[in-house]
Amino acid sequence: MGAVVAMELRTVRDLSPRGLKILLRADLNVPLSAGQVAEDGRIRAVLPTVRWLEERGARVAVLSHLGRPDGKVVEELRMAPVAKRFGELLGTDVRALPECVGDEVSRAVEGLPPGGVVVLENVRFHPEEEENDPAFARELAAPFDAFVNDAFATAHRAHASTVGVARFLPAYAGFLMEREVEVLSGIRDNPRRPYHILVGGKKARDKLGVLTDLLPRVDGFLIGGGVAFTFLAAQGHRVGKSVVDESLVDTIRALLRAAKERGTEIVLPEDLVVARELAANAETVVVPANAIPDGWMGLDIGPATVERFAGVVARAGTVVWTGPLGAFEHPPFAAGTAAVARALVSSPAFTVVGGGETGEAVEKLGLADRFGYVSTGGGATLDFLRGKSMPALEPLRAA
Ligand code: 3PG
Repeated sequence: MGAVVAMELRTVRDLSPRGLKILLRADLNVPLSAGQVAEDGRIRAVLPTVRWLEERGARVAVLSHLGRPDGKVVEELRMAPVAKRFGELLGTDVRALPECVGDEVSRAVEGLPPGGVVVLENVRFHPEEEENDPAFARELAAPFDAFVNDAFATAHRAHASTVGVARFLPAYAGFLMEREVEVLSGIRDNPRRPYHILVGGKKARDKLGVLTDLLPRVDGFLIGGGVAFTFLAAQGHRVGKSVVDESLVDTIRALLRAAKERGTEIVLPEDLVVARELAANAETVVVPANAIPDGWMGLDIGPATVERFAGVVARAGTVVWTGPLGAFEHPPFAAGTAAVARALVSSPAFTVVGGGETGEAVEKLGLADRFGYVSTGGGATLDFLRGKSMPALEPLRAA
């Protein structure tokens, strides 16, 4: 009988790992800066599973994607810096292999001592990964006895390393996967109300479908960051040089109408910090959100918007936040994200942060420990909360 969680996953606890060669799929898609890991939250998040396997004498090869290399080798997206940080955190030597399939991998894994760990090369260097190619999945599986999936942040992708490989190996969830599913199931099925989703970041196209599906489940949305400009444009406002996806405008209008009919509030920015360019020394001005001057672009939410968002957050029962509210990596555009993060940790609501960039922002602010839960998933977390089936979880279901 598998460990019981909301979805009844078979977990590593159901495995006797001693001596086994384990393929551990993790999501180590972390930000890099000058060839170094800039934020290691996703690496730290899988350490409990790695340590558990290590202490029980398994031989572990960690497999992940890094960025979107589109099926080609991209030198800057090699896993070596991730392996280095992994080793520092584990306190052991963790070698990065230059491939993720083939004889060299088989030999290296065979030669590992019990409790040894290696990191395989970026699986997205192979186009067959995202195609979920069965022959590639078989190659990935070949050197191993069991598959452990701890990559919740990639669980919404049906790829060879998340789904295909489980056809060739017994598959188990790691502790991170188990915890993510447990906490997020609670919110999906029984959120403390009022329940608000705070959305920032870019990728308006990805997020729009999510918002449409989440509409019947939530009490309101707060929208900032890059996605907000397509909403403002859909309302007929001038957005200057801000990035807008014109092809989404009609769908957004339909969403705004549907929200109005249901009485679900969609709060958009009232004011914005604008600049002529995205640069650390750019001249900035705060303007009403419906009057961005020509030649200027919105790069952060303004103080009135922060106050409005903070008011909603203070009265909420649950707030899930994904996506920074401005270009926070540049100091002139970081204030909105920082102020709303502070409002969230001061709120009595159960607060969840999701996604690499947002996780990075709250880590930098030193606030990560004060959130109710920090999810490693961005797109995956939103997909889970909207009730979509997660392809990578299917092979992990307890029978
Ligand atoms: C993420 O960062 O959300 C995950 O690593 C998935 O990455 P992807 O959107 O490139 O599949």
